[in-house]
Amino acid sequence: MSLPVTAKVPFGGDYNPEQWPEDVWKQDYRLFDTARIDLVTIGVFDWALNQPAEDVYDFSLLDRIVERAGAEGRGICLATGTGAHPAWLAKAYPEVTRTDFEGRKHRFGQRHNSCPSSPVFRRLSTELARRVARRYADSPAVVAWHVGNEYGGACYCALCANGFRDWLRNRYGTLDELNEAWYTTFWSHTFTDWDEIEPPSALTEHWRGPDHTAFQGITLDYLRFSSDAMLTNFRDEKAAIRESSPVLPVTTNFMGMYRPIDYHRWASHLDFVSWDNYPPDDESAARMALTHDLMRGLKDGQPFWLMEQTPSFTACRDVNPLKRPGLMRLWSWQAVAHGADAVLFFQLRAARGASEKYHGAVIGHAGRSDTRVFREVAELGVELDRLGPASLGARTPARVALLFDWDSWWALEISDGPSRLVRYQQVVLAYHRALWDAGVDLDVVAVTQDLSRYDVVVAPALHMLKGDLPQRLEAVAERGGSVLTTYLSGRVDENDQAFLMDVPGPLGQLMGVRVDEWDARGPEVVNPVRLGDGADQVDVEARLLFEVVIPQGAEVVGTYQADFYAGTPAVTRNSFGAGDGWYVAAGLDQAGVSWVVRQVLARHDVLGPYPDVPDLESAVRVAPDGSRLLFLLNHRAEPIEVAAPTSGVDLLTGDRTATGAALRLPAYGVVVLRADA
Ligand code: GLA
Ligand code: ZN
Repeated sequence: MSLPVTAKVPFGGDYNPEQWPEDVWKQDYRLFDTARIDLVTIGVFDWALNQPAEDVYDFSLLDRIVERAGAEGRGICLATGTGAHPAWLAKAYPEVTRTDFEGRKHRFGQRHNSCPSSPVFRRLSTELARRVARRYADSPAVVAWHVGNEYGGACYCALCANGFRDWLRNRYGTLDELNEAWYTTFWSHTFTDWDEIEPPSALTEHWRGPDHTAFQGITLDYLRFSSDAMLTNFRDEKAAIRESSPVLPVTTNFMGMYRPIDYHRWASHLDFVSWDNYPPDDESAARMALTHDLMRGLKDGQPFWLMEQTPSFTACRDVNPLKRPGLMRLWSWQAVAHGADAVLFFQLRAARGASEKYHGAVIGHAGRSDTRVFREVAELGVELDRLGPASLGARTPARVALLFDWDSWWALEISDGPSRLVRYQQVVLAYHRALWDAGVDLDVVAVTQDLSRYDVVVAPALHMLKGDLPQRLEAVAERGGSVLTTYLSGRVDENDQAFLMDVPGPLGQLMGVRVDEWDARGPEVVNPVRLGDGADQVDVEARLLFEVVIPQGAEVVGTYQADFYAGTPAVTRNSFGAGDGWYVAAGLDQAGVSWVVRQVLARHDVLGPYPDVPDLESAVRVAPDGSRLLFLLNHRAEPIEVAAPTSGVDLLTGDRTATGAALRLPAYGVVVLRADA
């Protein structure tokens, strides 16, 4: 089971015609024709509609919606509709609503609000999924199932407390094991009965908020449990779908770098990954590239669906900027460049009321096709038609891996000391940015991923080391590869207990360093770092965290310039086997990070075609027929001209290009070059 079968990149998005009269539907489809929209995601929040009372299921409206979409020739991504439970359910069974971190029992309201451990929620959501699948599995228009919606958050109720205890029994077997893992001798916490264990919340282990805990081990396990509890909800529904739909692919929409859910623990249970891309600002090109790569990496490089993006603006933020002309197109192509096999919007027609009435849509309240936004959507529809099946199933031939680890993210950010200012995403983003600027095709992968195909492995802030990862990283260097890691790596085991050895723990041999002490300072404190020597020498700045490194065989690449550790190493390189291990001991600024990353890459032939052209992104995908697609994306609001790195055909214009010929990308321009064989 993998991706839905489609003839081209599906184009469309969330469509909620149950919110408006049927005579508007006709108008909708004429506009979909104009924009070449060929896929609709239906029924994401239809629970109350489809089950108006506990013993009444009524699919008459959904029948008409599905029939109409099919008759109009559109594919359907059909949702089970369990992302928001109905009011009658919360009234009849108060257990289905969540208890929050502060201990407040919520009543009916909002969405994404069901307790994942509630037997009633589990039974009725599963039953709804079962009935939806049974009813529509044979509709030829349905190409995929969409379970729930944006799973997330957490619940701290008594049912979850019990679920947590079961989960812990399963993980540890005995209380002795649990006490050891949680280090409960500290502060007299030894548990003598499973029932003594409480979810870590504002009422128990936490102070100040979710990141401030007295027991990292307990909080970490609750994060893992919460992620697994919601995964159980997804799996329940998927199993119910499978009773009548044995092969149609099943997904749920992820949210990219979303901290509460460990998508690596989920990915194998989805047939294909899909995600919702709502960048926080319009300067987020590198961040989006990273997130696409993370989503593609969840299933070992299998393409994913871009399930949602706004054509124009969001509504949920305090300030909701409009995507400038050309940006929606550029970012859609960026998704395709990084592995998206669908380009979908939230939403196709704007809601009239409630909290999303000002959220952007392909069709606004006036139902016009002569708006700028609609025109740009329709133009993209034409381009995706032109692309046809060329990119479907295409893979990224990456030889560089960036490790991303939810456990390290959690452990780092719930840690007391050394610094609350070091944020996992910021560290990852800085190293990714350096790779992205160099035009490197990279995979963002779990620490459990097979690393034998990579020449370079970058592991920023790899706080927690699990399993045989240290050996597998050593193996990368052994055979000639490079491994780069940073401060605050190799600190703890999977239970968040410090290694009883020198920092960076089991990475010490590979890095050839030892760290005895470290210094955390506010953002105003700068320690200059001098990198390289001779003509290559540059001075950069370091902030937030400064580890004091004692080389154990590593050569010094950069040194601190100030404080009592002035002259000691801030960056090192250690020969290991036929390759090397690089250690960055301080929070270098972007120039510093980029300098180090370029040094690492220089030893391997992995740079993109334009490593020195800022804002010109390149990405390669190799189609199942072996053809090589080179995507060039101009993130500048002005034209860029470069020489073509290969001969080929621009699939968006049909123009042929010779190697070395001038390629002119207008502001926010896109080229999709199919390279000649
Ligand atoms: C999320 C949800 C959608 C919608 C959009 C609005 O991605 O899945 O239902 O609320 O946000 O941006
Ligand atoms: Zn609960």
